[in-house]
Amino acid sequence: MAEIIDGRAVARKLDEETKAQIDAMVAAGMPHPGLAVVLVGSDPASEVYVGRKLKKSTELGIVSFEHRLPAETSQDDLLALIARLNADSAVHGILVQVPLPAHIDTGLVLRAIAPSKDVDGFHPVNVGRLSTGTGGIVPCTPLGVTKLLDTVFDDLTGLDVVVIGKSNIVGKPIAMLMLEREATVTVTHIETKGLADICRQADIIIAAAGAPELVRGYWVKPGAVIIDVGITRRKTADGKTKLVGDVKFDEVQHARAVTPVPGGVGPMTISCLMANTVQAARDQVAGKSGDGFTISFDDVPDRSMFTGETQD
Ligand code: GUN
Repeated sequence: MAEIIDGRAVARKLDEETKAQIDAMVAAGMPHPGLAVVLVGSDPASEVYVGRKLKKSTELGIVSFEHRLPAETSQDDLLALIARLNADSAVHGILVQVPLPAHIDTGLVLRAIAPSKDVDGFHPVNVGRLSTGTGGIVPCTPLGVTKLLDTVFDDLTGLDVVVIGKSNIVGKPIAMLMLEREATVTVTHIETKGLADICRQADIIIAAAGAPELVRGYWVKPGAVIIDVGITRRKTADGKTKLVGDVKFDEVQHARAVTPVPGGVGPMTISCLMANTVQAARDQVAGKSGDGFTISFDDVPDRSMFTGETQD
């Protein structure tokens, strides 16, 4: 039987470390880390995620600033809010929950967040830092995947990692993190030819395609380690719903270790968000957040700043 990697237990331990760091910071006279969470509209899944983030913040001693805006909020008003949060020294992390309503340009909004406060790690500056191995804030789910792998392996050097999925939020950053750890990385996706054969070579499979039960038992070499990032909600025969991963869990028991869905990667994401917020707070208080460039947000909304339009 494959070892089940208990994401809830690993996340709990990370939370304890995060809380200890916050307690030490506060004892040293630093402020409590502050996290602003912005939700536009009332998408039910987003409401649940945001609720969990706020609850976890409170549990760990992070001050949360909740901004729930109506679905009709204009893009300029949202940008103006972000500008205020960027300038607010009590706010160390800013999270704008996606998806945003269709009339708002998500990329534009995410790029408006100061890179030093971008605790999601979505800003191109943080993406660039990750791909050049120069620090920055790492996206939460990929960071969580790495921490789960660290419970199985001391060292990833030379291991063959196959990533299934090429999203900006999961697949691509995971590939970068694995490269940083000296693994040999193959990035694949749902259109990749011979995907099963490629996966069968892997020491580690990271499935993040959002394709329920894509990875079958015969795709997995005995002793491989599987991280299942997929979460698809599926209707069951009795009219209820259940979460299904990208891996056919019952067929991969010849693996060395596998993450369950739920209870694997999911709990890590939120705990890594908390850890990122503490990192951001520490760096900002120490004055070494190093955005690399200075933007004055005083005159916002100045759309040219965000759109790249020339000011002439
Ligand atoms: N929506 C679903 N997951 C996430 C996440 O990790 N961050 C943000 N900002 N929005 C999300």
